[in-house]
Amino acid sequence: MTSPNPAQSRYFDVYESWKRDPEGFWAEAAREIDWFEQPKKIFDANEGVYGRWFTGGVTNTAYNCIDRHVKNGRADQPAIIYDSPVTGQVRILTYADLLTEVATFAGVLKEKGIGKGDRVIVYMPMIAEALIAMLACARIGAIHSVVFGGFAANELAIRIEDTQAKAVITASCGIEVTRVIHYKPLLDHAIELSSVKPEVCIIVQRPQEIATLIEGRDYDYAALLDDAKARGVSAACEPMAATDPAYILYTSGTTGRPKGVVRDIGGHMVALKWTMKNHYDIDPGEVFWASSDVGWVVGHSYIVYGPLLHGATTIVYEGKPVGTPDAGAFWRVIEQHKVKALFTAPTAFRAIKKEDPQGTFLAHYDVSSLKYLFLAGERADPNTVQWAEDLLKVPVIDHWWQTETGWAIAGNCAGLGAMPIKLGSPTFALPGYELHVLNESNEEVARGQTGALSIRLPMPPGCLPTLWNNDQGFIEGYLIEYPGYYKTADAGFIDEDGYVFVMARTDDIINVAGHRLSTGAIEEVVANHPDVAECAVIGIADGLKGQVAAGFVLLKAGVVREINVIEKEIVAMVRDQIGPVAAFKTVLTVNRLPKTRSGKILRGTMRKIADGEAYKMPATIDDPATLEEITAALKAKGFGTSVEAA
Ligand code: COA
Ligand code: AMP
Repeated sequence: MTSPNPAQSRYFDVYESWKRDPEGFWAEAAREIDWFEQPKKIFDANEGVYGRWFTGGVTNTAYNCIDRHVKNGRADQPAIIYDSPVTGQVRILTYADLLTEVATFAGVLKEKGIGKGDRVIVYMPMIAEALIAMLACARIGAIHSVVFGGFAANELAIRIEDTQAKAVITASCGIEVTRVIHYKPLLDHAIELSSVKPEVCIIVQRPQEIATLIEGRDYDYAALLDDAKARGVSAACEPMAATDPAYILYTSGTTGRPKGVVRDIGGHMVALKWTMKNHYDIDPGEVFWASSDVGWVVGHSYIVYGPLLHGATTIVYEGKPVGTPDAGAFWRVIEQHKVKALFTAPTAFRAIKKEDPQGTFLAHYDVSSLKYLFLAGERADPNTVQWAEDLLKVPVIDHWWQTETGWAIAGNCAGLGAMPIKLGSPTFALPGYELHVLNESNEEVARGQTGALSIRLPMPPGCLPTLWNNDQGFIEGYLIEYPGYYKTADAGFIDEDGYVFVMARTDDIINVAGHRLSTGAIEEVVANHPDVAECAVIGIADGLKGQVAAGFVLLKAGVVREINVIEKEIVAMVRDQIGPVAAFKTVLTVNRLPKTRSGKILRGTMRKIADGEAYKMPATIDDPATLEEITAALKAKGFGTSVEAA
């Protein structure tokens, strides 16, 4: 691979042009979207919490993702390629097919009483119907909230309740490598747990499992659709304000209750459309593959909305990087569908590397269509980046973003001419983001020094305007600590050349296989075990998943039951109440937890011990011997060999 030449990149010019005239920049980008009524203001500082983008604009996301492409000559182009190694199916939907499916299903939803502003939960595996459901909601102005299939009934219930969902769209089952996920019992249980009872549940019955439907509440997706098609039912695109919510996506916060990130309609479309060419270097008609899940923000932005807004072809992959059937799965998909850019999490490449360190599977496939590999979701460790680059011989581009932003804060704009890559860095702040590294006094630290990565307000289009029904929570969670800035809760630094380095979270969020989890939420579950007196959950470094959660528990006095049994029960509780996605498998029973004299658990020091890093004995520690106990407990389970630093 030839090194990118900074002199040939337009990145600095474009970033400067945004800085000189942010509204002019976004007004230009907004021309890529079809508006029913043009925005009256590009940015209105007097609206919303920190201002609102494209106020007065009227548009519709489904129109921009589908109808306009059908009108403009893309009717016969594949819009969605559903590729499912777990069922052996490949299904291609052209833009014309997608229009029929979405307009019909939107009509079905309307007939079931769902309309503008109503909330609809989408709890689905990676099948084309998940996208059809999301786009049908967008068409009629309903607000979808997609829930990842790896979450348990309790998490689903929290989301049904918080959104006050009127409807749920789900499937009879999901298919994992080793087992079938029974969605319907999970849904029924969630509805039992929730005080809000959705009026309508629509279920895609998959041949692998036919779910039992509850009369008067549950409907078979295919039967509804067939009937609607026979009657010529179809819904038009609802005119929506640019500032109306497009969707709510829940993400882990610092408490057990997830935060409902709101995405607006206008800003979302403008930002994503801009990124498709400028960041990902994709042209309309080309194939873009985000190997993630529609339950995550990456899935929302780059399996569904970004590629479709752009008139590209998106791949919906129901499989894994390994095991479906082997470590050549990604190369097979790239060859078969002529993928130009693959976007995944570093953990997927670590999984492939673990199974096939020499990359021997690649020799069986022609992956010459692939021009870029984009990585995000967790820190891209230099080893993995280097391994992927050596194997694929294409630029491996790390980029950093969050559910809250919906698109990259820092990245390497391939479409503007990629800048040279520094391993371990997602490169530069993207146009729209004025990124600062702050100390606790809200002052900029020197280049190269670590601090709080913070975005100067206003946030660019596409970022969250607020949390669902919770402006105050948004202000308190993100805007108060560093006045004038959005707190990313990531710590890192910017080097002399302007390269951004994202090193760690500043809160209790951990990143497990590219999935964002709150240790606080896991702790709440562990603490509920009847034998547990006290507990602490931390993230421990893991060669495959980046981090895994581990729980330290202190049992109540007088508990005589077998420790092994209790530990297994705790693991089962987390799986049952949060879900398998927590991948919570390690519980360590200890006699005491290390604490400061004021009673604060020393989680940071515990993490260092677990990761085998050198640590300094905290000056405020109540009893240094507690650290020895933690070290011994970790050693007994094969973790941690760290030493106290001199
Ligand atoms: N529905 C139900 N269960 C799910 C699920 C889903 N959509 N996705 C994962 N799970 C389950 C898994 O089956 C597993 O269950 P188990 O404990 O019974 O084995 C558990 O949740 C943990 O899943 P995961 O963390 O994905 O681990 P894994 O061992 O199955 O796979 C990787 C490891 C690295 C292959 C996998 O995490 C991966 O492909 N990651 C890619 C990263 C990614 O997509 N990130 C999204 C953000 S970009
Ligand atoms: P999520 O909201 O699930 O997308 O998770 C966002 C968090 O993942 C960020 O706040 C970071 O902590 C981490 N993250 C995402 N992408 C990167 C990256 N490229 N480098 C480092 N950390 C990342």
